[in-house]
Amino acid sequence: MSECKRYDEASQRAYTARLRAWTGGAETPPLAFVDTYGCQQNEADSETLRGMLAEMGYAFTDDEYAADLILINTCAVREHAEMRVLGNVGALVHTKKAKPGQLIALCGCMMQEPEAVEKVKQSYRHVGLVFGPHALPRFPQLLYEALEKTGRVFDVDEGDNRIVEGLPVRRGEPPRAWVSVMYGCDNFCSYCIVPYVRGRERSRTPENILRETAALVADGYTELTLLGQNVNSYGKGLPGSPDFAGLLDAVCALPGDFTVGFMTSHPKDATPRLFDTMAKNPKVRRHLHLPFQSGSDRVLAAMNRGYTRAAYLGLIDRARAAMPGLNLTSDVIVGYPNETEEDFEATLALIRRIRFDNLFTFIYSKRPGTPAAALSDSVSDATKRERMARLLAAQKEIRAGR
Ligand code: SAH
Ligand code: SF4
Ligand code: F3S
Repeated sequence: MSECKRYDEASQRAYTARLRAWTGGAETPPLAFVDTYGCQQNEADSETLRGMLAEMGYAFTDDEYAADLILINTCAVREHAEMRVLGNVGALVHTKKAKPGQLIALCGCMMQEPEAVEKVKQSYRHVGLVFGPHALPRFPQLLYEALEKTGRVFDVDEGDNRIVEGLPVRRGEPPRAWVSVMYGCDNFCSYCIVPYVRGRERSRTPENILRETAALVADGYTELTLLGQNVNSYGKGLPGSPDFAGLLDAVCALPGDFTVGFMTSHPKDATPRLFDTMAKNPKVRRHLHLPFQSGSDRVLAAMNRGYTRAAYLGLIDRARAAMPGLNLTSDVIVGYPNETEEDFEATLALIRRIRFDNLFTFIYSKRPGTPAAALSDSVSDATKRERMARLLAAQKEIRAGR
């Protein structure tokens, strides 16, 4: 990676100041529209982008025709998410035509995916700025270059995976606030693109997290959610190897009237210690989102999930014993390549046994560059859709029987 691609606070501040001088000279502040796809991590990133834009002197709108800058924070997790982004970006030729000075910018996970970036380069020529999650801290410089230069600006290199603290954040109104505790993912589930687009796992220090959390509570935020792709592996590589249960305990020990939740837990790293920590802290919301993905051991192994059906069931029993009445939610994928009827029935049996309060259901989507994308698949789309319908019907029945 070239030296100039590294984040340097002073130079980003200088770009912010230049943009501020420019926006301050206008009769009314320029307007930005920030649109977000994907998970809470992306929501949190958009709050940072809005914070940066506010420092540069932008005001906000959600009218695409009024916006001087349209910034779309994209998600790559399933093809459907990408098609929605591309459909909406395609429609922006009209706003750009109506307002030729408008800058259309794309950022987020999809922009760290070479195939998607190439498509934007070739077929979406009204897009003037493209950058991936790794380049986010350098947004002031990238925006400055896109506004100054006549050509389009693309910054989609992989970053150095460092965490940049202290970026401005413009949040929604209280009570809810996101707090990222870690970034990236090292799990490489065979179907998933997140580790490729978000880079290696890295954790913020407990001190930085606690400082941010205390400030949020002081500002009146009372429903905090700690975010990470796998919060249960929080702390690896930090001095003293703090763990997530310890972090949760420390957050709860902060004074004030607030509740804490977290997303997402990976079953392979979830521990009884975590459940006991939740149970003993009244500030922790009684909700656990623990994606199981499949009820079949054969499919779980193919997915590289690192746990068995029995281990998953054991965790749920343990969590429920520690917290009677616990609200349980999960994610499940149907139609993983070569999923058999027997595999699928194991998934159905698992949801009937656990009776989740809510289930997020996905049909497997082939993601370029992942190991699963290289598999040939004997299951037809019609069978996948039919299994999805059966899964939804089973979950509906479970909910009706509550
Ligand atoms: N880190 C979280 C999940 C992040 S992605 C975890 O591991 O629990 C959110 C959900 O999207 C996943 O739990 C999975 O169910 C689903 N998902 C991810 N990749 C997918 C793919 N290629 N096709 C279909 N669903 C997928
Ligand atoms: Fe994707 Fe697995 Fe990481 Fe979750 S844990 S983000 S599903 S690779
Ligand atoms: Fe999507 Fe990126 Fe989140 S791929 S699900 S926005 S980490």
